Amino acid sequence: MALPARFIDLKVEIASAYPDFEQNATRSWVEILEEMDKVTKKIIEEGVNYIPEVDFAHLENLNREEVEKIKRRGSVVIRNVVPDEQAVKWKEELKEFVTVNPTVEGEGVRLMTTKFDSWTKPQVQARSHPNVLAATAWLNNLYTTSSENKETSLKGVDLSVPLTYADRFRIRKPGVSWDLHPPHVDGGTIERWEDVSFRRCFEQIFQGNWRSHDPFGLEGRLDARSSLYGRPNQSSIFRTFQGWLAMSETAPTQGTLKVFPDVLLSNAYTLLRPFFTPLVPVDSTGIYDGKNWKFDLSTPDFPGIIPRDGGYAGPRPTPELYPNMRLNEAMTSVPRVYPGDTVFWHCDVVHSVETEHTGTGDSAVMYIPAVPLTPQNQAYIERQKETFLTGQRPPDFPKGPGEAEYIGVGTMEDVIGKMGQRAMGLVA
Ligand SMILES: [Fe+2]
Repeated sequence: MALPARFIDLKVEIASAYPDFEQNATRSWVEILEEMDKVTKKIIEEGVNYIPEVDFAHLENLNREEVEKIKRRGSVVIRNVVPDEQAVKWKEELKEFVTVNPTVEGEGVRLMTTKFDSWTKPQVQARSHPNVLAATAWLNNLYTTSSENKETSLKGVDLSVPLTYADRFRIRKPGVSWDLHPPHVDGGTIERWEDVSFRRCFEQIFQGNWRSHDPFGLEGRLDARSSLYGRPNQSSIFRTFQGWLAMSETAPTQGTLKVFPDVLLSNAYTLLRPFFTPLVPVDSTGIYDGKNWKFDLSTPDFPGIIPRDGGYAGPRPTPELYPNMRLNEAMTSVPRVYPGDTVFWHCDVVHSVETEHTGTGDSAVMYIPAVPLTPQNQAYIERQKETFLTGQRPPDFPKGPGEAEYIGVGTMEDVIGKMGQRAMGLVA
């Protein structure tokens, strides 16, 4: 489906907003393709070992190099965040929840590929678990600002105060093929280019300094509008990292998460991709040579951005549209996780869910992102709190029957501790 012609104007607008855009972008494109060629080969060679891992107990003791690795790769497995028994118990309770509430909605086949609901007891408890909150606060603190005027630009921001975003859970039975989540980026689609604040997150890339792009810069993120078209299922808050908590042992090929583990490079490539058209077949070796691409503002195409529900979906990189990412091989499964381990990926990371689940047990996770205190996020959790207290679906979710009638819905008593209550907006 074609994008509207006004997106040509958007490209022209961006190109004219930065001095010498064509020259800088063309030089950058050559460099990015070279780096892409090198890095993807390394990712493919190292496979699952390319994804950094750390034990929750050692989070505070990581050296600079280890932290930098997590930031560049954009993904991390944090192990032993909650005790195994607790995570397993939550899974059993969630299965029970689905059984006793036959009208609970999910994607795909019931109890085979499920992913629904937000206010179950286990979810409310897990989100307020002190270690889960501590892990997300640690991730939030990877973000920084280079602004000279921190006082004004960071007004109302506290990276050490984690907030709760009510998201879904998933229990996936083995043997069922599921292709609902091919490689994609969450949290904003065309908005990355179209919204002036969001675009600022990628300013260095548009200025021709892609190597200086900092995916962890707060500039732009705080007032980025990631949901200009108000589509349902679009997160309207700023999550530093999307994440999940494992409730089962899940290894690669067992329906686990895959990531493209270089967020700097995938951002640089994605943001400049709409300005270039290949001159050679995308599966030819010449595709890594920037000279085989032409700077091009003549079409409204933003490859990987797809019109949907009056708005847009994507970016959805595919091997044809983003040939240099070697997606078929470089999308890397996260290492084997055990109940109580967590996986987090930066909000810009290209990720997917494995189509096949060849294991023998359920692959079960709760989605729990890292969300810092910012004015925008605080406003969201105020609205979210009301939905919790009245048993409705959270604000970002499609409208539908509330959850108040279900058996096993969480209440105030399930929100653990002061930090958990603060995260929910229940106390100041
Ligand atoms: Fe996603």
